[in-house]
Amino acid sequence: MVGLPGVVGLGDLEALAEAVLEPQAFAYYAGGAGDEVTLRDNVDAWSRHRLRPRVLVDVARIDPATTLLGQAVSMPVGIAPTALHGLASPEAEVATARAAARAGVVLCASSLATRPVEDLEPAGGLRWFQLYEHRDRAITLDLIARAEASGCTALVVTVDLPVFGQREREIRSGFTQPLATGYGNFASYAVAGDVETVTDGLHSSQLTWDDLEWLRRATSLPMVLKGILTGEDAAISCELGVDAVWVSNHGGRQLDHTPAGIDVLEEIVSAVAGRAEVYLDGGVRRGTDVLTALALGARAVFAGRPWLYALALGGEDGVVSALEILRTELVIAMALLGTPTVADVTRAHVR
Ligand code: FNR
Ligand code: LAC
Repeated sequence: MVGLPGVVGLGDLEALAEAVLEPQAFAYYAGGAGDEVTLRDNVDAWSRHRLRPRVLVDVARIDPATTLLGQAVSMPVGIAPTALHGLASPEAEVATARAAARAGVVLCASSLATRPVEDLEPAGGLRWFQLYEHRDRAITLDLIARAEASGCTALVVTVDLPVFGQREREIRSGFTQPLATGYGNFASYAVAGDVETVTDGLHSSQLTWDDLEWLRRATSLPMVLKGILTGEDAAISCELGVDAVWVSNHGGRQLDHTPAGIDVLEEIVSAVAGRAEVYLDGGVRRGTDVLTALALGARAVFAGRPWLYALALGGEDGVVSALEILRTELVIAMALLGTPTVADVTRAHVR
């Protein structure tokens, strides 16, 4: 594949990336919490599901395009928010944003990006902003205003990180979180002389649903809640009026022994009952994974690590190539499943 020599499927990326990344960076990107039970299950869970292909459907034209929150994307696959792309490439999130725009997919920019959200605007394309709600509401409001002003069209509020999960690979490798100055979005606040407050408040362990209600009123952007794993929390999210629920165990990095998203998707889709869009991430590596999630009720899926590895291996072109590998697999799988558009994929296409 142009941009990623030697890579045929996304599963090839990790070992190749390990060879080019600093050991601490690889440990941070690749690792999961605890015994990494959830990390492994995120990939393994897909193999427990089976597709039900329908034959003799006209599949001469396959179109994987769809809309997310009313916004057009070229396929139901996006770039999940991941921190610190600067560990993979000097261009960091700027390269990832350009790649997303070229491929026509949504990029969800992390609060903890190396580069500030403003730097991604020239890349164009569909960009959402992932928010870690800061304990200091003035900082939260400022981040939202900056995301809006630089063209982000949705706010993805991540709710599964009141504290960091215990990730042993990070500890063993000696990886340490950078100071606020290493997180582009917070560098200006740090310059204002408040480094400690900024980093300390990044992941507020005090946040509750009341803060979410405040946040819902504080922005007119569509709001997505990321990190939902139960029907109960999906139902509360919908009562708060969120626009989408994002099923995720944070790539196995937070609470170990949580289920893979695909194994709780139906519970969540049924609790949401059509009130919001439902997205899913965790171990999505194959075109067939995308179709399995769509058949079980997701509107789109996201992946995190594959794009980081592709960025490390091939920069912007590498990320485009990785996205194209998944698109090609998806198009072939859609033809073989007998579903020429994503709207054709139904519950009857999985068992
Ligand atoms: C993440 N993830 C994440 N999520 C989030 O909401 N904000 C963030 O800043 C980060 N940072 C982050 C860093 C790294 C290195 C990884 C691997 C993941 C979680 C991410 O959005 C997503 O949920 C998972 O990465 C999905 O799993 P896969 O595709 O990596 O298996
Ligand atoms: C992580 C945080 C930054 O998973 O979301 O490392």
